[in-house]
Amino acid sequence: MVKVEKFIPKAIDRIKEQAKGKTIIALSGGVDSSVCAVLAYRAIGDDLIPIYIDTGLMRKGETKRIKEIFEDMNLQTIDAKDRFLNALVGIKDPEEKRKVVGETFIRVFEEEAREINAEYLIQGTIYPDRIESDGGIKSHHNVGGLPEHIDFKGIIEPIDDLYKDEVREVAWALDLPEEICERMPFPGPGLSVRIIGEVTEEKVDVVREANAIVEEELLEQFKPWQTFAAVIGKGTGVKGDVRVHGWIIAVRAVGSRDGMTAEALELPWETLRKIESRISGEIASVARVLYDLSPKPPATIEFE
Ligand code: XMP
Repeated sequence: MVKVEKFIPKAIDRIKEQAKGKTIIALSGGVDSSVCAVLAYRAIGDDLIPIYIDTGLMRKGETKRIKEIFEDMNLQTIDAKDRFLNALVGIKDPEEKRKVVGETFIRVFEEEAREINAEYLIQGTIYPDRIESDGGIKSHHNVGGLPEHIDFKGIIEPIDDLYKDEVREVAWALDLPEEICERMPFPGPGLSVRIIGEVTEEKVDVVREANAIVEEELLEQFKPWQTFAAVIGKGTGVKGDVRVHGWIIAVRAVGSRDGMTAEALELPWETLRKIESRISGEIASVARVLYDLSPKPPATIEFE
């Protein structure tokens, strides 16, 4: 386990040595990039330019909260919702979807980096990201992918030796708010991997609302390692007295240590019923709600 009191000053010193001049970081609001941003801000102050790209694939209220939390650090926010949605039109294959989101992210970020004339790039890569990407398990959009077409003088990865629980410890020690320190993992491609098949604005809206309900019902009470909702297709239902073809929502709640393996939580029946009744009651276009029992393996945690 990393010794936090030793790690922090060392990491700050290393950033000071490595970054000379304008340095950017893509801040997602996740614990990894947030820890890197705070370390870097302590190291180089206003030479750090944190950039938050609103992909339109974020959870409910997330963009607003991130702006509030990091406003003192000179956060630049870029609204790229339309760009992402347009890039995703017609794409059904999960790996292609990940690639498109990753590439669009890189393009938007590159454009900003050029404009700012940034010389250094900070990335919040952590140790397990490196292992999973090297092993070819899936294309992680936050690893190894950031701007290839810009000549940065250097890429700095201050936490690439840490595991997730160590990053959280550092986050607490840096006085980041609890919602960041204990934030559930959220995939780089955002809500797009919680939608099976093509990503459309309608599906994103549905999955965002369903995710918010699931989090409200499960986060506090059951402290899952990760919990969310996914739109997995359409099925027939009855609303009022008409038959409708509505969305099918799958609810996922898992326990895990590091995301490499996971098991579904055994939730009380009344909790599941409440989630079902809230999702199909509050989101008019939903016809059916399922609970996913699959462990990882054979399933992954996300749906795509
Ligand atoms: P899977 O779905 O592969 O996910 O079992 C394991 C953990 O990784 C998260 N995840 C990602 N995180 N970029 C990320 O930063 C990604 O592309 C990505 N894909 C999945 C997932 O939420 C789970 O915690």
